[in-house]
Amino acid sequence: MSNVSITTLMQKKQAGEKFAVVTCYDASFAQLVEKAGIEAILVGDSLGMVLQGHDSTLPVTVADMAYHTAAVARGCKAPLVIADMPFGSYHSLEPCLNGATELMRAGAQMVKLEGGTWLCDSIQQLVRAGIPVCGHLGLTPQSVNVLGGYRVQGREESQAAVIMKDAKALQAAGASMLVLECVPTALAADISAELEIPVIGIGAGPATDAQVLVLHDLLGVTQKTARFVRNFAADGVSIEEALCLYRQSVIDGSFPAAEHCFD
Ligand code: KIV
Ligand code: NA
Repeated sequence: MSNVSITTLMQKKQAGEKFAVVTCYDASFAQLVEKAGIEAILVGDSLGMVLQGHDSTLPVTVADMAYHTAAVARGCKAPLVIADMPFGSYHSLEPCLNGATELMRAGAQMVKLEGGTWLCDSIQQLVRAGIPVCGHLGLTPQSVNVLGGYRVQGREESQAAVIMKDAKALQAAGASMLVLECVPTALAADISAELEIPVIGIGAGPATDAQVLVLHDLLGVTQKTARFVRNFAADGVSIEEALCLYRQSVIDGSFPAAEHCFD
């Protein structure tokens, strides 16, 4: 596979072809993810929970993210590498630009930030500085203490309207992609249809342009998982096969199935 760029992913959206994204935190797994043809890797701050054993993503630092981003970037060439900006690293402009620069130097090709319209100025500045941005709306785990738990967002009409408005604002500010986490299927379908940029869903139903899962969840390593997770490594399937099966299921639309979605 040739190197994936945001142009590649935009063209897929325009052609109605889905693509797969998975989280990854190290070089060895990045190599396997690449071998499976998965289009993009998210070095997620979920590493705070999955690798570090914290009960939220809040303790993760820019240095942690840079360390894992560099490891992933050494392990693969083709997938687009997106790195999460961690909690507290982007609420004011200068730390945001410095942190994002560090992640790009470490090997990211895009950074991801959680939040709505309040991020628009930062997104403009990042893009101007040569740093592509992925937004993240719906359930934003860095705000778990404000949200009062890990739960579906946008079920009420007024809340859904805010998420739609935020999505359009992020795109207008220059975001290249958007993650939607734990929102009703219908809302994710509307936003995916409305936006020109690719929308990547997790617990957001089958109508988004792409899907993302946490690597350890789709490999069945995680003990307690959410409704939207499928273990692709069940029944003695190898890691390599599981990654291929995940990508194939996203592309042919068989994942997510109804049992993985929210109304
Ligand atoms: O950190 C992460 O793994 C994420 C995905 C779940 C979207 O942000
Ligand atoms: Na994240």
